[in-house]
Formats: sequence, C-alpha cells, structure tokens
Amino acid sequence: MKIAIDGPAGAGKSSIAKLVARQLGFIYIDTGAMYRASALYAIENGIEICEKSFTKEVLDRIKIDIEYDEDGQKIILCGKDVSKRIREADVSIGASNIAVIPAVRLKLVELQRELAEGHDVIMDGRDIGTYVLPDAELKIFLTASSDERAKRRLKELHEKGQTADFEQVKRDIEYRDKNDSEREFAPLRQADDAILVDTTTMSIDDVKNCILKLAKEKM
Ligand code: DC
Repeated sequence: MKIAIDGPAGAGKSSIAKLVARQLGFIYIDTGAMYRASALYAIENGIEICEKSFTKEVLDRIKIDIEYDEDGQKIILCGKDVSKRIREADVSIGASNIAVIPAVRLKLVELQRELAEGHDVIMDGRDIGTYVLPDAELKIFLTASSDERAKRRLKELHEKGQTADFEQVKRDIEYRDKNDSEREFAPLRQADDAILVDTTTMSIDDVKNCILKLAKEKM
C-alpha cells in the first residue's frame, strides 16, 4: 500500500508521516530531504542554482543515500550524514529553488520510485499524489494557515535552541509556497483524488488519528 502526503511547507507532513509509518509498520520516505541534500551539494560546492548548472555530469556527482535506524531516516550526501544541516534556513530556500529544475526532479523522482517499489510506504512531499505515486491508494493534502505554519516552525527552532524571527520564518514559508506552486514541472497541487486535511486548529494526535482512520478504511 502507498500513502501520499502532500502540502505546503510547515504543514506537519513529516511529523505526521513518521508517526503513521511507525504505527502501521510502513517505510517513511521524506522526499523533501532529497531536494535539501541536492541544494546543500550546490551550496557547498559553489554551484549556482539554475538550470544550466545541473548537467548530467554534475547530477552524477550528487550521491544521496537514505539509511534507516530507530530514529527514522538519515540522509547521507556523498558519504556524509547531513540530516541536521539540511534543516537550516539557507538549505530550505535552496531546496525550493533547486526543485524548479526538471533535470534535478527527474533524478530524484527515479530514486523515490525505486525506494517505494515493493514496499508499504508513506511518502511526503509536494508532487507525490500528482506525479511520483499517482496510483497511491490514499492521498492526503495536508495544509494549515501560513501564520500557524510559521508558529510551528518557530517553536521547532526554539526547541532546537535556535533563535529566529517570526516574520522572517513566515516570509520564507510564503516564498517557498509561491515558488513550489508556481513552477511548471510537477508543482505543489492537491491531486483530484486527495483528501484535504486542514490542520490549523488540530493537534498532532488529532491529525495522526484522522490519517490512521483513513488508512485503515483503505486497507
Ligand atoms: O518538505 P520540505 O520542506 O523538506 O521540502 C523542501 C523543498 O523541496 C520544498 O520547498 C520544495 C521541494 N520539494 C519538492 O519540490 N517536491 C517534493 N516532493 C518535496 C520537496
């Protein structure tokens, strides 16, 4: 069984997907982490994020591996664990910018489909229900108001001991929403057969239970 969760930045997709995966014994695949790792490669190697930079030769040098342990998914970029670094603000914006480039998307979508092949998976991203796994049995479009999403992101940063400005966090989220929805190739969009879940006033537990109920109905 495949479950696709799409939605804008900070809607809680990865937190929810991890909980649901654990409960159902499914593999969780965080596709945003792959765009983030590709953006980090560009940042660390002084590569400008634009279409002409990502030739086949450059793409072949970006080696992304996913490892699983009891804490979830680890992202390994060219042999180095970058799971923490890819969560920083410069990488978030870089990921949204690199995700516009079709050659990058094609490479990552191939990897995502390979990882999903033959397993029960819950995969989150922007184009999972519309493009990566169009035959997923359950598709959820998870959203929340941009104020609420910025509030959650800020709380997450504070919990990690980082300081950030609410307005800046909200601006970054809104920039990514626009960039991710307006790109030409596989933009962020609710699939026609996806169920919309607006989590603005819901707790994590409420969202988890709602998705588990939907998944069990499909099973
Ligand atoms: O889910 P995230 O915030 O980790 O994703 C980072 C960026 O990667 C997001 O702004 C757009 C891009 N992305 C994408 O275009 N398609 C996906 N399936 C997942 C992420």
